[in-house]
Amino acid sequence: LKAEALQELAQVTSQQQLAEMRIKYLGKKGPLTEILRGMGSLSAEERPIIGQVANEVRGAIEAVIESKQEEYQKAETEARLRAETIDVTLPGRPSPIGATHPINKVIQQIEDIFIGMGYTVAEGPEVEQDYYNFEALNLPKNHPARDMQDSFYITEEILMRTQTSPVQVRTMEKMKGEVPVKIICPGKVYRRDDDDATHSHMFTQIEGLVIDRNIRMSDLKGTLLQFVRELFGHHTQIRLRPSFFPFTEPSVEVDVTCAMCKGSGCRVCKQSGWLEILGAGMVHPNVLEKGGYDPEEYSGFAFGMGVERVAMLKYDIEDIRHFYTNDLRFLKQFAHL
Ligand code: PHE
Repeated sequence: LKAEALQELAQVTSQQQLAEMRIKYLGKKGPLTEILRGMGSLSAEERPIIGQVANEVRGAIEAVIESKQEEYQKAETEARLRAETIDVTLPGRPSPIGATHPINKVIQQIEDIFIGMGYTVAEGPEVEQDYYNFEALNLPKNHPARDMQDSFYITEEILMRTQTSPVQVRTMEKMKGEVPVKIICPGKVYRRDDDDATHSHMFTQIEGLVIDRNIRMSDLKGTLLQFVRELFGHHTQIRLRPSFFPFTEPSVEVDVTCAMCKGSGCRVCKQSGWLEILGAGMVHPNVLEKGGYDPEEYSGFAFGMGVERVAMLKYDIEDIRHFYTNDLRFLKQFAHL
């Protein structure tokens, strides 16, 4: 029996077979169990002899099975360690990460320029009261200039802000008559416009407001010149054209020289050499007063620009809708900015 078992065990090639052998030779129905069970029918002299032989055979078989089992386990552990080895010299896999949206990049660029001139960044709600969006900005109900900014009304008194100018009023209220006021405010605005290459029902503006004693038109002009030179390049010139906004007087529209002009046939400025980028003016006395500043003592200037338009001019983008359609081929071109 022992010889047979050991021979069979020598041919075992898997853990599965080894387990079968264990059952076959050492299990409850195995030959050894049977022999030991039959011990009762043996004589007193035979019993210890047979018992000893049976135990020795059992021990021998067990020993071989144990050592084989150990071998298998060792091999298994080794195989697992080999499979799990990490080659630290392999180059890493790049994990794809997103990038800041080009509009936010341009907002950051503009913020940085104004922060460098001592401004702080202010914010206001996108769902705004009629009072802040129009009334306090010298645009009473039924004022025809309200039509310039067709609005999304939520109730009679609440609307999606059509401009960032309401933040002017909110800031003045917060400052409680203190000076200097020197803020810029970036944010989304909403107008009932049909979307096309240059219009969007939602877009981004940046507002600026300065209030102090003796603020003059020349301060506005100097500030804007410095700003556009930092944004578009140091040879940029500006041109002020008279305009109208209910909350500024006098009001101007500001053009910058077109840096896209490369010889004739410029698509961007249609060969005029100038690009409109800003609305601005001296804060209207009525607005100062509503904000708690005595127009006899204080004066200020304000300006507002469309961020998409600035980005389109700066990076020669032909359609405003590119900013909102999430086409990675477009967005990735600005990932490095
Ligand atoms: N709020 C104006 C607009 O949206 C822009 C502007 C801001 C003009 C501040 C003058 C002063 O058209």
